[in-house]
Amino acid sequence: MLNGKNVLLGVTGGIAAYKTTFLVRLFIKAGANVKVILTDSASSFVSPLTLATLSKNPVISNFVKSEENTIAWNNHVEFGLWADLILIAPATANTMSKMASGTCDNLLLATYLSAKCPVFVAPAMDLDMYKHPSTKSSLDALASFGNNIIPATSGELASGLHGEGRMAEPEDIIEFIKKQLVSGLSLSGKKVLITAGPTYEAIDPVRFIGNHSSGLMGFELARTAANLGAEVYLVTGPTHLIIAHNNVHVINVVSADDMYHSTQMYFENADIVICAAAVADYRPKSVAEQKIKKSDENLTLELVKNRDILMTLGEHKKNQYLVGFALETENEVQNAIGKLKRKNLDAIVLNSMQDKGAGFGGTTNKISFIDTNSTITAFELKTKAEVAVDIFNEIIKRRYA
Ligand code: CTP
Repeated sequence: MLNGKNVLLGVTGGIAAYKTTFLVRLFIKAGANVKVILTDSASSFVSPLTLATLSKNPVISNFVKSEENTIAWNNHVEFGLWADLILIAPATANTMSKMASGTCDNLLLATYLSAKCPVFVAPAMDLDMYKHPSTKSSLDALASFGNNIIPATSGELASGLHGEGRMAEPEDIIEFIKKQLVSGLSLSGKKVLITAGPTYEAIDPVRFIGNHSSGLMGFELARTAANLGAEVYLVTGPTHLIIAHNNVHVINVVSADDMYHSTQMYFENADIVICAAAVADYRPKSVAEQKIKKSDENLTLELVKNRDILMTLGEHKKNQYLVGFALETENEVQNAIGKLKRKNLDAIVLNSMQDKGAGFGGTTNKISFIDTNSTITAFELKTKAEVAVDIFNEIIKRRYA
């Protein structure tokens, strides 16, 4: 969740500021980039050098900076735009009151007012200050602006008193932020079923009929859905690809029949289903128990049709948003729309074999997304990872926007 995210930590003047050293370490450990803005009074509680060392970035406090006899300014707008999220911890009663009223008399407050990203506020103060109606009204105002308040906890306070007002522990702050970011994702709470890769249809114990599908498109779709917060069931034929993501459950299958049975298990509870697998249309009528020996000049294999997995899902569809793929060599759009109707789909992703770099095997793809109104959205040649994002954007626009 936090990997690669730009986190701006605003530290204000309370004793809990000493805990921000742990907070910075946890953010860095989670893969985030961290910059710290320290108010003047906060620097009495925690050393700027400590935070600069831990965050691997200079700590900033004032609008004006002087370097080698030159005077420049710290651009609060730039900090606000850089941040993917802002955390103000500890947030004193003074700073929260200023944030609530729009007062802008230091760099942190100016950055807060300029920022467009989610803002998290972790209050910390003595119990009577925390209980005071003015603090309550600041907190209400901040929440009404869409800021996320991380409630103070109860316990021993620096004053020696016991009660509510302790800043949440650094680990709990990180957990709170992660949960909040997940619930803000557009596929949070949704289940996504994806088929990927080729299928292998056995001829005898050592031979099979297969195809060159790498599975990459399906794996990128799975990764994208998982990053958007979905719980993903990836039913994949044989491939060398691996995916390690907490939200992705991989179900390995070999033949079209295995894939059919596995998709049946996950279909009913799925919200979105995408069939990206290159399923073999036919399989040998019988599988030889022993390795077939070469004898005659010619060998004839009798093939029988496999079940069309996508078609059966279309027949049993209730609320699932069902998407198929079509790889066409001629009359692409017409054939794709024909498949969309025949298989009762909500959308079909068309790869044209006429486009260089599209389709099987490679790392790029060029697709058109076609929906039931025959609205065609055509995309440029992109990496399969980017194509996966485009596909989910189109689905989310139609299903959840
Ligand atoms: N598909 C499937 N099960 C099959 C065959 C295909 O689920 N037995 C799915 C693929 O995953 C893809 C879509 O159907 O999403 C289109 O597959 P494609 O082979 O291009 O089309 P077909 O309907 O099989 O028609 P044709 O081969 O005649 O073009």
